[in-house]
Amino acid sequence: MKTIPDLLEQNRVWAATYTTSDPQFFNRLCAIQRPEYLWIGCSDSRVPANQIVALEPGALFVHRNIANIVVPGDPNCMAVVQYAIETLGVRQLIVCGHYGCGGVRAALDNNYDGAAHVERWLTPLRQLAVAHFAELTRLPNDEERWDRLCEINVIEQSHRLLTSDILSNARLRGTPVRVHGLIYSLRDGLLRQLTTNA
Ligand code: CO
Repeated sequence: MKTIPDLLEQNRVWAATYTTSDPQFFNRLCAIQRPEYLWIGCSDSRVPANQIVALEPGALFVHRNIANIVVPGDPNCMAVVQYAIETLGVRQLIVCGHYGCGGVRAALDNNYDGAAHVERWLTPLRQLAVAHFAELTRLPNDEERWDRLCEINVIEQSHRLLTSDILSNARLRGTPVRVHGLIYSLRDGLLRQLTTNA
């Protein structure tokens, strides 16, 4: 296992990869951040936002939580969305789910293990599974139900963003925002697009 001193050393090497070829790289980022995309993804360690789309520091504004859930009453997520759009001027939103998501699995399993904060967080996913019960039960096995609910979750969270007051206001101001629903496969490292609003 890596120690914190190991990580600090790795960080020095990482920073040097930028400053060697471009000594002003970090100075420019200090002055301003102008990310092109807001990324809303799962906290899962296997789905690192910048790395899987090969974007450098400064290109992605990021919000991650368990199972990439967008809840209009969640002040954390909504503050990130509002700041990205209204202050940073971001016009492209990405909701990125992933197959094999543990949060989605837990919502399908119905085995409450006493982790109260996690259970509360997953409530919207359980409601989503109930709402799509008919479609999910038609699938031949648990694996396919799990995959499908991961997809449904991305589509649902994209829809919640599109119908949020923040995006409505952006449309009224004449600066519409695009929302792209993507899903990542842990098996091959590839992204697939599920939805887009334009
Ligand atoms: Co996940």
